[in-house]
Amino acid sequence: MTDQYAQTREDNRSAGTPAVRWEEPPEGPVLVFLDQTRLPAEEVELVCTDASALVEAIRSLAVRGAPLLGIAGAYGVALAAARGFDVDEAARSLVGARPTAVNLSVGVRRAQSAYQAALARTGDARQAASAALAAARQMHQEDARASARMAGHGLALLDELQPGGGHRILTHCNTGALMSGGEGTAFAVALAAHRAGRLRRLWVDETRPLFQGARLTAYEAARTGMPYTLLTDNAAGSLFAAGEVDAVLIGADRIAADGSVANKVGSYPLAVLARYHHVPFIVVAPVTTVDPDTPNGAAIEIEQRPGYEVTEVVAPQVPVTGAGGGVPVAPLGTQAYNPAFDVTPPELVTAIVTEEGTVSPVTAGALADLCARSRQA
Ligand code: MRU
Repeated sequence: MTDQYAQTREDNRSAGTPAVRWEEPPEGPVLVFLDQTRLPAEEVELVCTDASALVEAIRSLAVRGAPLLGIAGAYGVALAAARGFDVDEAARSLVGARPTAVNLSVGVRRAQSAYQAALARTGDARQAASAALAAARQMHQEDARASARMAGHGLALLDELQPGGGHRILTHCNTGALMSGGEGTAFAVALAAHRAGRLRRLWVDETRPLFQGARLTAYEAARTGMPYTLLTDNAAGSLFAAGEVDAVLIGADRIAADGSVANKVGSYPLAVLARYHHVPFIVVAPVTTVDPDTPNGAAIEIEQRPGYEVTEVVAPQVPVTGAGGGVPVAPLGTQAYNPAFDVTPPELVTAIVTEEGTVSPVTAGALADLCARSRQA
């Protein structure tokens, strides 16, 4: 893959490197990310010098995952402000980069509001830029704290559902430190179980078409020494039938007011399987993922991705030959259905775990109470 949108810096990522860093070299501030499209083959840092580079990085999924999108969006506004670009224009383009994860617009709006308020108060664009950066940094820290709290609440729930531990957890997509200010959402819960000696196995769905499970979750699981096994998405049914799954743990990109959960495509079939096999289906996400302005699942905009992601295998390790940069696996001209996300109705969700606590059963009233509590905290 070519880096048409930004410079890259080739160096090894040491354990614990944050998913995003703000740096201030003499040439001006930059945002540094690990390019998630290149993992696990290469650990390459991506350096964004302006918001349009960040928009491209988000669209290409070099920067991805709901919590990181929120943090990156806030830093993107701060970057535009610090470099003297039109902040409202940058905010508009960042919000439009991907439609489903509500965290992106939450992060952008938060930094933009901080900028506007400081500008109105002081009339000084530099002070306003500092305020936007402070808001982004605060969001980043809050996400790290939220991640740790979700891990605690999630592990307590797992232990309650299955006293004695030995949890065999199935997860989908990638929800770890690569996309968080901390150790992630669902992945952080599995990691907490592992550290407590109570994780028997993490089952990792490969997550077609872009392999976030195989490329990213397996990468993170291997780095942390968790016992994990990769499976194709369509092997999940036989795994449930064999009685090998104690709980499903996934993240979320948007949770509607009624408790409908949009997450990586393939989550809904897992919820159906889980219900049939009487296995808890648990969603782990920060409160910022709950969107009170989206009334139900039908109102969630689902991103449609290019068909070549399905008609070709697009992965960093394979030689580049197809129109989309991958190896073709379907006849030329084949049409593809490629929604990036699907929606799981609340009645299939056993619990939603957030930093403010666990909601179970999942009802509109319980979620509204949770949001109100979080606003007061
Ligand atoms: O298209 P992606 O890779 O950005 O999708 C990410 C997911 O669906 C994650 O599961 C989600 O952001 C979880 S984090 C609470």
